[in-house]
Amino acid sequence: MGNCFVSKMGNSNPSISDRSITTGPSTAGTSNNYNNGGGYSATSSSEGTCCDGEIWPTPTLKIYSFADLKRSTANFKPDSVLGKGYFGTVFKGWVDKKTLVPCKFGTGMIVAIKKFDLESLQTYTEWESEVNLLGRLSHPNLVKLLGYCWGDKEVLLVYEYMQKGSLADHLFRENPAIEPLSWDIRLKIVIGAARGLAFLHTSEKKIIHRDFKAYNILLDVNYNPKISNFCLAKLGPSGGNSHVTTQIIGTYGYIAPEYAATGHLYVKSDVYSFGVVLLEILSGLRAHGYGQRNLIDWARPHLSHRRKWKTIMDARIKGQYSSEAALQATNLCLRCLEYEPRKRPSMKEVVEELEQIETMKKEP
Ligand SMILES: Nc1ncnc2c1ncn2[C@@H]1O[C@H](COP(=O)(O)OP(=O)(O)OP(=O)(O)O)[C@@H](O)[C@H]1O
Ligand SMILES: [Mg+2]
Repeated sequence: MGNCFVSKMGNSNPSISDRSITTGPSTAGTSNNYNNGGGYSATSSSEGTCCDGEIWPTPTLKIYSFADLKRSTANFKPDSVLGKGYFGTVFKGWVDKKTLVPCKFGTGMIVAIKKFDLESLQTYTEWESEVNLLGRLSHPNLVKLLGYCWGDKEVLLVYEYMQKGSLADHLFRENPAIEPLSWDIRLKIVIGAARGLAFLHTSEKKIIHRDFKAYNILLDVNYNPKISNFCLAKLGPSGGNSHVTTQIIGTYGYIAPEYAATGHLYVKSDVYSFGVVLLEILSGLRAHGYGQRNLIDWARPHLSHRRKWKTIMDARIKGQYSSEAALQATNLCLRCLEYEPRKRPSMKEVVEELEQIETMKKEP
């Protein structure tokens, strides 16, 4: 394919160095992204429980100066770092609860402030994408973007603060003080994340997230999940087309095979990434960097087997679920991971099935 790999090293998130930006097929004429003049309608489908959100015609965000955010983070104090990602570092900051005006560090309401590393022009594009898209979206399972700062040397974004960090922090527990998530909490998280994706997919412009992974699912104090990082999101196909053709970009382990191979991005490419996250939730194992083997290739033959499915389940949640529920969940996971996009379920179907699994009680 003649791919050119660009990666950042030395980050705490092991998946970051696995990010690949590859030169894909030309986007001319076929690419469809939200910066190219195709505005949103303010409405979105509201069928079922998955689509309880809104899309505004323009972003409604607070504009901050760099000095404001410097004050609110006590000059980007190293001990206020919440995490580091591919595009920059996330700090804890403080704003007034009502007005969102920055306050002195330690007073008011906590927010998460992402300071982008401006190493390339691409970073500006990613920053702008997040402002233009996430700034218009409102859904209980999407993280809220509150404001931004745009300067010659600095670009930053201000988000609602998610007290429990990312799903990855809990599943892969680099911090041993974090308790393993129970089966019930895992189901609650995966259902919420599925609703968030279903909302994007069923909106008028069929938004494709393109970087759905455990690191991009943030958790509030009650483990309500919210999808984050819309830097790579794209508008889906229109005019009867099945896919958009675009540069291949995403995170290893989560990218759908058809997209990685051809640059053809389907709405259902996100469903594949969702299947990977579901597998991580069931097994407690990381999709990428799982020993010498790829987790998905290893798990695939076990997922629908009447007895072998047990081998993929996380031992830390043993005894918390009914066999019927776990078997249906592993089976759903397998369908999300189908090689052919059309064979994967829609996210709306995934939500319905997960809600049904949630009602299955453990055998006494
Ligand atoms: N709104 C938030 N509230 C609380 N913590 C956050 C918030 N946003 C990010 N974080 C923390 O900062 C970390 C880095 O986030 P960031 O989105 O920059 O990178 P990432 O998701 O880890 O990787 P990538 O850049 O590949 O998406 C997250 O893993 C999370 O722990
Ligand atoms: Mg992220």
